[in-house]
Amino acid sequence: MTDFARTRALFDIPEGMIYLDGNSLGPLPVAAKARVASVLADEWGEHLIKGWNVSGWIHLSRRIGDRVGRLIGAPEGTTIMGDTLSIKVYQALAAALDLNPGRRIVLSDSGNFPSDLYIAQGLIGSLGRGLELKIVEPGEVEDAIDENVAVLMLTEVDYRTGRLHDMKALTRKAHSAGALTVWDLAHSAGALPVDVLGADADFAVGCTYKYLNGGPGAPAFIYVAPRHLETARPALSGWLGHEAPFAFDLDYRAGHGIDRMRVGTPPVIALSVLDAALDAWEGVSMDDVRAASIRLCDLFIAEVERRCPELTLATARDGKKRGSQVSFRHPEGYAIMQALIARNVIGDFRAPDAIRFGFTPLYIGEEEVLGAVAVLECIMRDRLWDRPEFHRKALVT
Ligand SMILES: Cc1ncc(COP(=O)(O)O)c(C=O)c1O
Repeated sequence: MTDFARTRALFDIPEGMIYLDGNSLGPLPVAAKARVASVLADEWGEHLIKGWNVSGWIHLSRRIGDRVGRLIGAPEGTTIMGDTLSIKVYQALAAALDLNPGRRIVLSDSGNFPSDLYIAQGLIGSLGRGLELKIVEPGEVEDAIDENVAVLMLTEVDYRTGRLHDMKALTRKAHSAGALTVWDLAHSAGALPVDVLGADADFAVGCTYKYLNGGPGAPAFIYVAPRHLETARPALSGWLGHEAPFAFDLDYRAGHGIDRMRVGTPPVIALSVLDAALDAWEGVSMDDVRAASIRLCDLFIAEVERRCPELTLATARDGKKRGSQVSFRHPEGYAIMQALIARNVIGDFRAPDAIRFGFTPLYIGEEEVLGAVAVLECIMRDRLWDRPEFHRKALVT
């Protein structure tokens, strides 16, 4: 059994704050502070450029990739860190399209994160091969998979509603139609059990600043199925993905295995923070996390529906059909969320009308769920959201 009292003590959350936004940015792991101080003083400060070898900086992307890989069912040597998720989407989609020439359609859905769709549009534009991005409703994806589809590109958990796709079934259907798959696990990694190998995904990508608590702007990951490791062509052929980066050849030759998905110099300080953050997962069973997350989400849904009837549930009621987040809709969602934040209950807002709450059993329990609902009930009952300051839109929502 996972000891959630132990994991809770590993995070620094300000006194009195109810933090239900770990699905957007995880809180600070206590261990990260000492790690950063040590990387700065003992590694960079002491060794300077020698740090790449003596402190093992050059191996961080691979070593941490394997740590993240263990959380998503990826075998060793198939996952690597670097860049942002948008870049990893580009790499994965470009490689998948390259492995499946002669087809015209990139299939995705309207629940995908816009950056993934924008990246696909940009890539299709620069390839100039007559490719087309087809966007269907999430419930229509399965029926839209046919022999014209080159790549099925989906985010497993919808960022807005929390809807969970069946990665294994959709991948099987895609493969039977001759398509490859690219899965975005931004809202899955650390949120629920993921098995990229068991689902037979071709490529998977994700970020580490949400449920993996790697900090703002933490590096992303990319997984490549073992069968594609030596054939996937890196579209972003940077020097660290070269077979011999320090030979400084004039021509690119892709590195072996997952190393070819490296691009440039890794963010050593950010990777070190992430490395410290991942220690929290030692001794944690993802099945226990899933069970606790479903319990917390169920409790939140039941209490909000009972005490705040003006809010409309936007997330699946069946725990098996959603990720680790719950959203409610209301035309004044933005102001309601601002009023919550002003009372130290932190969630976020996603246009046009969704207030979104993430449930992260590593550091959130029933007490926080009930505390948040009590504040929300008060805000709705007394229309506390209807003040000018709560209607003023900030750039980041
Ligand atoms: C599902 C999904 N994909 C892609 C992105 C973009 O990630 P990044 O800003 O790290 O490139 C996000 C950001 O939140 C996301 O939620």
